[in-house]
Amino acid sequence: MKDIIIMGIESSCDETSVAIVKNGREVLSNVINSQIKIHEEYGGVVPEIASRCHTEVINGVMKKALKEAGITLNEIDGIAVTQGPGLVGALLVGGSYAKGLSFVTNKPLVPVNHIEGHIAGNYLSHKNLKPPFICLIISGGHTHLVHVKDYHTFEILGKTRDDAIGEAFDKVARVVGLGYPGGPKVEKKAKEGNPNIKLPLTHFENLDFSFSGIKTAVINLNHKDPNINHADLCASFQKAVTEMLMTNVEKAVKMYNEEKIVIAGGVSCNSYIRESFDDLAEKLKIKDINLTIPNIKYCTDNAAMIAAAGYYNYIEGKRADLSLNAIPNLKIGE
Ligand code: KG4
Ligand code: ZN
Repeated sequence: MKDIIIMGIESSCDETSVAIVKNGREVLSNVINSQIKIHEEYGGVVPEIASRCHTEVINGVMKKALKEAGITLNEIDGIAVTQGPGLVGALLVGGSYAKGLSFVTNKPLVPVNHIEGHIAGNYLSHKNLKPPFICLIISGGHTHLVHVKDYHTFEILGKTRDDAIGEAFDKVARVVGLGYPGGPKVEKKAKEGNPNIKLPLTHFENLDFSFSGIKTAVINLNHKDPNINHADLCASFQKAVTEMLMTNVEKAVKMYNEEKIVIAGGVSCNSYIRESFDDLAEKLKIKDINLTIPNIKYCTDNAAMIAAAGYYNYIEGKRADLSLNAIPNLKIGE
């Protein structure tokens, strides 16, 4: 069968990224221009600045991606672009750029859901991974537990009712004075402490999550006692949220009798969470549970994961025309 080469374009938040991926699995290039340094100053992503930065760099990022892959635009079979969810202005930059490129090259335009992209990040790190599996997507904008039945069929089993887990990490970091982006900083601080502070865990009858209660508890504890040990607070927060994640994943695996657990999204960079899921996989081994977590470089936002998801959309015949619009609240499977 002829190789299929997809260009992925990602601009949903504060990373401008273009990647070239062969057959949905082999990364030929994955160029990422991160705006973290720019937004750091404001303690979070400023949407208007994000859009402007995407506009300034996207063409250069695309050219670099082609050069690193050693191919020309002519050799590409399709252009996959993140349609949503994300910041509307940021999505519009990538979407408009992809439409322009599709128009001038006459290559098909393939829309991709960013959350489905995070799931597909695992196909790049684990060449033999195939659905079905239970996938936990933990990122700055999303916390979803999804039954991935095949490459295109997703059933949401649970999701956060308030904050995304990454948002809670970022807020805790800000409250204890660690700055933005918070996740990696909380993880580092937690390594110096002990998880000895009791924090409230939220569970529901179904497989939903909630992180606003624990976030508020951390804020209140810090407010009441500014001398509280921040390393212990970070370690306790990290342990508590991990417990909440693991409880629901274990329930889902048992309810759906699945053999594989897959983790995705920026928060899955966290080594405590990765190790805890290793332990869970060990504990559940009686049922031959396999655990899959993407390589760190495919956890946070990147275009290679968009190209991987784009490949599966491409072979399924999914196309967009020049009326493609950004959908900031696009749901998985839509
Ligand atoms: O997937 P991602 O790059 O963007 C979204 O689609 O949201 O995730 C970014 C989130 C941020 O909230 C960041 O703080 C969190 O991932 N993150 C982490 C770690 N590295 C990134 N959270 C906890 N521990 C980490 N090591
Ligand atoms: Zn993301």
